[in-house]
Amino acid sequence: MKRQSLIIDCDPGVDDAVGLLLAFASPELDLKAVTTVGGNVPVETTTRNARIIRQVAGREDVPVFAGAARPLRRDPAGAGAFHGAEGLGDLEAVEPEAPAADGSAVEAMVRIVMAAAPKSVALAVMGPMTNVALALRAEPRLAERLGPVVVMGGARSEGGNITPSAEFNIWADPDAAAEVFASACEMVVFGLDATHQVRGTEERIQALEAVGKGPALTAAMMVRFSQRIERDIVGWDAAPLHDPCTVAWLLKPGLFRLTPCRIEVETGSDLTRGHTAVEFRVDEASARHLWAVEADGQGVFDLITERLGAVA
Ligand code: RIB
Ligand code: CA
Repeated sequence: MKRQSLIIDCDPGVDDAVGLLLAFASPELDLKAVTTVGGNVPVETTTRNARIIRQVAGREDVPVFAGAARPLRRDPAGAGAFHGAEGLGDLEAVEPEAPAADGSAVEAMVRIVMAAAPKSVALAVMGPMTNVALALRAEPRLAERLGPVVVMGGARSEGGNITPSAEFNIWADPDAAAEVFASACEMVVFGLDATHQVRGTEERIQALEAVGKGPALTAAMMVRFSQRIERDIVGWDAAPLHDPCTVAWLLKPGLFRLTPCRIEVETGSDLTRGHTAVEFRVDEASARHLWAVEADGQGVFDLITERLGAVA
């Protein structure tokens, strides 16, 4: 089996947690590191949460590196009630045994990518892009050396989820996102247009619960928490499952339909801060960005249930 080397940058967060569990359970992925960033909750908490999910998955072989505590310029914001006070919904936040690794997220990203064959290490970004922007500043050659940068972020036809015009990850650090989209990174972007097609329906949650053990039950707990929050706050019956779309694409790209584009980010206006201008009228040959326009929601949940169900 040809394995894909991967770094996951995240801000767990209930959907980040499901994305991590999917990656930990997928042998096609050679997960070199998990890096954390402040986002849904502060970076001390996202780092602890990444360690908790790593322990649930039995994957203490994968190092966790703590990253940026705050955006490049903006104040840290947090995502309020959407992930619970401790960031993992109803899961008890017990201090995990294995510590975070020494060194920073940025140092780890640069070291791992620059030591590997060009384009051989993919990067999945599940939170604000602060660490990625800082890594590109620290090592300008990184953009050419990275494999696909697979991002959960942005919105086009769906509008925003943190403001009317912006999705949370991009809104939280629009300056970092603007720098990364302007770089030479080849980016595959799963915005709300796609992730809103991947919803945790009662049937899908019950399929995860029916596995009856381990990571599948943890994932079900995360999705059920989101279901409750969405019903209480947003009025939807099933919550979108955002971050796992990045890992699902790496595993089964046929679950999604992508369109070449150019993406730019609003950083000058407070009203539309973090808006992603996704322009499809681009020369396909020069387009470095791909935007997900369709997602097979059932296929994504079937993949998650299959992989987590196979974990001993
Ligand atoms: O808008 C959804 C994104 O914001 C997800 O990454 C979720 O974890 C939150 O960080
Ligand atoms: Ca996230």
